[in-house]
Amino acid sequence: AARLPKVLQLTLAVIKPDAVAHPVMSQALHQRILDNKFLIVKCRDLAWRRRDSERFYAEHSERFFYQRLVEFMSSGPMRAYVLARVDAIRQWRELMGPTKVFRARYTSPDSIRAQFGLTDTRNTAHGADSVESAQREIRFFFPDFCAGEWMEKEEPSFR
Ligand code: TYD
Ligand code: MG
Repeated sequence: AARLPKVLQLTLAVIKPDAVAHPVMSQALHQRILDNKFLIVKCRDLAWRRRDSERFYAEHSERFFYQRLVEFMSSGPMRAYVLARVDAIRQWRELMGPTKVFRARYTSPDSIRAQFGLTDTRNTAHGADSVESAQREIRFFFPDFCAGEWMEKEEPSFR
């Protein structure tokens, strides 16, 4: 029988400041990534200024939690990853669990947010939610990585 080709996909994942502040937690999350068969393509630690936070989360600027989110995301170092896996975008979001920690604990007790999240804002991890956002967010965090011609095209060429 013919087999469908299995194509690696890239996603952008972030370990947020609440987790990076605790070395044991960030090490456990790094291990969690490897245990779940993601390939780590790029990894960097960085800290946002307020304006980076505002720009990254501009789509949420009208939401009630925006100020709190922006404040938190620029409160300390975080760790960004480019991860590769078949179906990476969806698989990483599944591993993270639902946005709201209470829901995560209720519906997906093994997920990262259920196990490590503190509140709906301090929810430990971020993941791109579509091919378009993965492309935009990989560019946002890793501009040098994206300088090559493989990300120049309109059509996402990294799928
Ligand atoms: P969103 O894009 O809805 O969730 P996700 O991170 O799962 O893609 O929201 C972005 C971030 O905004 C979320 O990770 C944490 C914060 N946030 C809150 O602080 N309170 C909320 O009620 C929601 C929905 C999000
Ligand atoms: Mg989102």
